[in-house]
Amino acid sequence: MFQSLEALPPDAIIGIMSLYRQDNDPRKVDLSVGVYQDDSGKTPVLDCVRIAEQQILEEQSTKSYVGIAGNAGFNKSMESMLFGVNHPTLRAGRISSIQTPGGSGGLCVAGHTIVRAKPEARVWLSDPSWPNHMPLLKLSGLNLEQYPYYDYDKHCINFDAMINAFNTLRSDDIVLLHGCCHNPCGADLSKEQWNLLADLFEERGIVPFIDIAYQGLANGLEEDAYGVRLMAERLDEVVVVTSCSKNLGLYRERVGMTSLVSKDVERAKIAQSNLGNVARGIYSMPPDHGAAVAGRVLSDGELNKLWLKELGTMRTRINSLRQLFVEKAEGRNAPRDFSFISEEKGMFSFLGLSRKQVVKLREEFHVYMVETSRINVAGINQSNVDYVVDSIVAVL
Ligand SMILES: Cc1ncc(COP(=O)(O)O)c(C=O)c1O
Repeated sequence: MFQSLEALPPDAIIGIMSLYRQDNDPRKVDLSVGVYQDDSGKTPVLDCVRIAEQQILEEQSTKSYVGIAGNAGFNKSMESMLFGVNHPTLRAGRISSIQTPGGSGGLCVAGHTIVRAKPEARVWLSDPSWPNHMPLLKLSGLNLEQYPYYDYDKHCINFDAMINAFNTLRSDDIVLLHGCCHNPCGADLSKEQWNLLADLFEERGIVPFIDIAYQGLANGLEEDAYGVRLMAERLDEVVVVTSCSKNLGLYRERVGMTSLVSKDVERAKIAQSNLGNVARGIYSMPPDHGAAVAGRVLSDGELNKLWLKELGTMRTRINSLRQLFVEKAEGRNAPRDFSFISEEKGMFSFLGLSRKQVVKLREEFHVYMVETSRINVAGINQSNVDYVVDSIVAVL
């Protein structure tokens, strides 16, 4: 039966990670990983998470299933964080949400729900986008297309090309946008660009599908939700998928949420029942622990205060590393202007190196990054920054 299956090459990033592990050079640096790291290179368990976990373990009296939609308190707190407590669309009861296994599970539920509602729908992904968007959404049966997003030469969004592409779309076409901290390029839409997109989507009947996996890691929790809140206020229908992997460091606990904005309350009830039914058909019930922790951190005053502080530390660290990298490169008279790095947001940016330079960095300098020269800025720290910048300047 399974004889027809063929062996597949390992995921590109996993391949690089294993080369890194095999490298015994003490100077080695890994800028390929997709998770936040602190200055000592660790991906920490946040203090707010540890405290919430202890409380939950002491209080928990059953391991029976949580409902299909997950933890109601978690969903409510997440909706408030994402849309804002007083968002008119939330207050009007037009938003339906379901707890999902991570942002990836959320994308899967959203994908299947879109296919159920409109099998011929086309979903447009940014070029480039998170590498897993394409295979993950394809598995749910969606028709996928790409729109131009990043200008690799100018190191910024090619907004004119994007608008030109959107001007050819049909009503009910769906456009996947990154809410903030674009992965992999770090170039985010400005408020003005979000406003222009809202006008255009409204005019053409385009449905935004916003993947916001890094809320709080660009400019702040409120600021980073600008696009989500704007679209949910302006348009009849919006799809939003969020994740607690990065901003709460709950990666392995698999917790996220899918929300659908509907035209009215009646449709929102129908949407809610379909989200649940789709999830039931994929994994039946969501895992409990991550959402119980996130729900507690978001709703408990003291824990929330602690989380905001820890989230602020992660955000400030990423933004100051970006700044530091640019200063160090300027200080060494790098033959390339890297100032765009300090303007981009989140953990990822393209350095703009050729594949040959990336391989040279890996083989001669033991500095590892994805072949597209996408780096995880959080992999830089005080003890390796000089070596990283020197190595990059050397291959240039
Ligand atoms: C843009 C984007 N969306 C979604 C995800 C999925 O996150 P998770 O499934 O780990 O919550 C990621 C993870 O890297 C991401 O970068």
